[in-house]
Amino acid sequence: MIEAIGLSKRYSDGSLALDALDLEVRAGEIYCLLGANGAGKTTTLNLFMNFTRPTAGKALINGIDVLLDPRAAKRHVAFLMESVALYSGLTAFQNLDFFARLGGRFDQSKDDYAMAMRQVGLPERSFDLRVRKFSKGMRQKLGIAMAMIKEAPALLLDEPLSSLDPQAAAELVETLLMLRDEGRAILLTTHDLFHAKQLADTVGILKEGRKVLTRSREELRAERLETLYLDYMRGRGGWGGTAASL
Ligand SMILES: Nc1ncnc2c1ncn2[C@@H]1O[C@H](COP(=O)(O)OP(=O)(O)OP(=O)(O)O)[C@@H](O)[C@H]1O
Ligand SMILES: [Mg+2]
Repeated sequence: MIEAIGLSKRYSDGSLALDALDLEVRAGEIYCLLGANGAGKTTTLNLFMNFTRPTAGKALINGIDVLLDPRAAKRHVAFLMESVALYSGLTAFQNLDFFARLGGRFDQSKDDYAMAMRQVGLPERSFDLRVRKFSKGMRQKLGIAMAMIKEAPALLLDEPLSSLDPQAAAELVETLLMLRDEGRAILLTTHDLFHAKQLADTVGILKEGRKVLTRSREELRAERLETLYLDYMRGRGGWGGTAASL
């Protein structure tokens, strides 16, 4: 459903942000992309959204090359940006309605919006509140409700857990697992190893644009993700590491 084949991005300043990334997220799976600041996670999602062009390789959504047919590809995917773009002068309801229509969905009722907002844990009193009065976490939740309303089979979420309080993060994990069980393919980035372990069917770690490690849920049962992550960041993990010399 979400597939990268040799996906690479060199920005015009010459920096190689992503180096021959291969990954696949099938329907009913969650893939968590980890990595330090600047590792290439947002770049990966931007390539899937065709916000930026790859220098090599392909990004496919539902088998559609996003570079060749961006409009068709975008019909199958919902995207949550790192900082959610919302209209602060509109209420939560109005934002959902506006963006649903913008995305071509005219069949949604107020009840549908309310259900989505309840599902992401927004309090009822916030539904009619102007978004300017929302906290960062509330904006994040509304962004997720917006992505859910699109009912796209593929979801790309850039740090959806950032700025959520512990209860909200736990609720979001539940929601994402529910969406996965409904058959969505979810690719998300996060710095939160604790929740990544709960969510991921597959974990991939990016380091300076290269994927240095992939682990399945089963493999992670026997290993500590925190230890693995830190070992790779310090250059001690696996191939290309410096274990032999330490
Ligand atoms: N528009 C751009 N022009 C030039 N370089 C860029 C651009 N956007 C990102 N980069 C560079 O690409 C690399 C990867 O950045 P990216 O935003 O993908 O990292 P990230 O893994 O999402 O980091 P973070 O965890 O901080 O969000 C960084 O070195 C960054 O400086
Ligand atoms: Mg990022």
